[in-house]
Amino acid sequence: MIPERGLVLLIGAAGSGKSTFARKHFNATEIVSSDALRAAVSDDESDQSASADAFELLRSIATKRLSRGRLTVIDATNVQRTARRSLVALAARNSAPTAAIVLNLPLEACLARNRSRPARPVGPEVVEKQVADLVASLPELKTEGFKNVYIIDNTMDIDSAAVLRQPTDV
Ligand code: UTP
Ligand code: MG
Repeated sequence: MIPERGLVLLIGAAGSGKSTFARKHFNATEIVSSDALRAAVSDDESDQSASADAFELLRSIATKRLSRGRLTVIDATNVQRTARRSLVALAARNSAPTAAIVLNLPLEACLARNRSRPARPVGPEVVEKQVADLVASLPELKTEGFKNVYIIDNTMDIDSAAVLRQPTDV
């Protein structure tokens, strides 16, 4: 169950399948993607020098959507606690509940998918660090202010996952 007027954080390393999951379960306008916003300002979704501008836009769009009571899905790795904390705080300022959907795939699965991508967004050492950050985050996620935390550990469960929208009390 995810709150229908809330903020949803997808959490997962590069190659874990966040964007694929987002496309399957959410409308295009509900998804705010750091890669898409890097591309919006630089024409290159993997241009890390565009990250600051992309995240400024991401926060701005999320704020405007949540203040209108629109479901907002953040498609970014969100593996670092500081990144999650600032988004949970942003949601709270807009009276929106927050849910986390964690795509907790093993490192090897993320690396294999990254290898098979035509435009390789990040190197293997970056993916390794992201998976380590994610694994370290798992025990503390429940204390970070999310209304719901869903951790999905394998591709079969990711494929069969259903996303239900829970009406938000007004
Ligand atoms: P995604 O592009 O969905 O991963 O899938 P991601 O988490 O959003 O990655 P970043 O953080 O933006 O870099 C990565 C690759 O894995 C394949 C996709 O087709 C893509 O090439 N994939 C994804 C599958 O084969 N099966 C899936 O269920 C999901
Ligand atoms: Mg993606």
